[in-house]
Amino acid sequence: MKQLLFFSLLVQFHWAVGQNTLQLDGNHLGAKINRNIYGHFAEHLGNGIYGGLYVGEKNNTIPNFHGIRTDVIEALKKLKVPVLRWPGGCFADTYHWKDGIGDKTKRPSILNVWWGNVKEDNSFGTHEFLELCNLLQAEPYLSGNVGSGTVQELSDWVAYINHPNGSSPITDLRAANGRKDPWKVKFWGIGNEAWGCGGNMKPEFYANVFRQYVTFLNNGNQPLVRIASGASDGDYHWTEVLMRDIPHQMLDAVALHHYSIINWNKKGSATNFSEEQYFSIMKSALYMEELVEKHSAIMDKYDPQKKVALFVDEWGGWYDVEPGTNPGFLFQQNTLRDAMIAGVTLNIFNNHCERVKMANLAQMVNVLQAVILTDKQKIIRTPTYHVMEMYNVHQDAMLIPLEIKSNSYNFQGQTLNAISASASKNQEGITHISLVNIDAHSDQIITINLANTSLKNITGRILTSNQIQDYNSFDIPDKVSPKAFTKFSVSNQELKVVLPPFSVVVLKIAQ
Ligand code: AHR
Repeated sequence: MKQLLFFSLLVQFHWAVGQNTLQLDGNHLGAKINRNIYGHFAEHLGNGIYGGLYVGEKNNTIPNFHGIRTDVIEALKKLKVPVLRWPGGCFADTYHWKDGIGDKTKRPSILNVWWGNVKEDNSFGTHEFLELCNLLQAEPYLSGNVGSGTVQELSDWVAYINHPNGSSPITDLRAANGRKDPWKVKFWGIGNEAWGCGGNMKPEFYANVFRQYVTFLNNGNQPLVRIASGASDGDYHWTEVLMRDIPHQMLDAVALHHYSIINWNKKGSATNFSEEQYFSIMKSALYMEELVEKHSAIMDKYDPQKKVALFVDEWGGWYDVEPGTNPGFLFQQNTLRDAMIAGVTLNIFNNHCERVKMANLAQMVNVLQAVILTDKQKIIRTPTYHVMEMYNVHQDAMLIPLEIKSNSYNFQGQTLNAISASASKNQEGITHISLVNIDAHSDQIITINLANTSLKNITGRILTSNQIQDYNSFDIPDKVSPKAFTKFSVSNQELKVVLPPFSVVVLKIAQ
């Protein structure tokens, strides 16, 4: 009898240890999830701009509006792109904006020394980029050239874009180029990766350079969001120095870059990968949580009121380029593995939205973890596209903080949390919960305890496929696409959800 009792206790204990649980309370809301967490990044890199977003107004084989691809715009509109960063990346610190304005036949060309040493004709410049943002209804985020530019050049760019009509010779130039009214661009990056391609600076030196540049960013009385070029990965000293040495009235955001990568010298194929490589990429993606927490802790020390934001203005998976493509163009396919990266990373950003106010997926079209791939007239929405679309319900909603207990996904003696989650409540009172199961083999059953929320009206969508290596190709463009999700049940104010291996699910709980 005693033995039986012990056995049943053991079974119960194992069940308790082995189950995934989520605890949240619909009446206990956190900060607002800034829509800019769902931001993008488009650099002059490979076919990221030319061919991917812009084909020129003379192109009569690919439908376009003033040279901007209408098929790509239509697809991107569904993502509700809130903000777009441009023109780089490393390219930004070689870019001279005056080369990209005025009569296109007279614009000087530029050699793109960072990406493939190709010649560009500067036909896509300031006006074209701001028109693209307008079509997308996205806020522009301009990355200024600090590495090889001048203080005057950046100061002029701000004036050209933001000063009122007729206020100076530079705004007369803008009017002569066809634009009278200012665009009123808020987001300005003061260089990019100043520790590397942006000038190989030390943080103390860059902090002084930042102070100098910002002094001359004359925007009248309109406030700008001034973004300091941030740390790479775990370079906490960089963030520490910036927060210590830059007066906070001059600083609105500090950036951070982190790519999910196996090994910079051996990145591996984007589509043909082993479970070991999958596990390794997910480990690198989940490292984002530690990075955000540790950089935020440093920022908290200098800015306990969280006035300076953390912008993760480059993130995503980085693999070897597709065989036969230009190694400098960073063109890679996008599988369900990338959907896992996107799902867990966006959950991390949502859950840390008190400090993380913007993030920019690298990159938008045809480069790295792109949401769209193009091949001449053809276009594909990648698995990452679908995650960005499914998750856009969180934009500007209030975070519902959650307590998560996750089973482990084990691989050769190493473990990662199998599930990841975040939740929010929007203005209409609708709750959304986004869930990811990264486990390559097992279903994960999650018991969700959602206090103060009616569980009567629940629907869901799922993104998954038979293989983690599955992707959308130009021949089969919808192999990986969202479907209705029904594997959940409700009893006693508890919601039980069964997530298949490598899946992303978004639940909608209407009032
Ligand atoms: O996104 C590709 C490159 O990665 C960017 O140009 C640079 O900022 C980063 O190192």
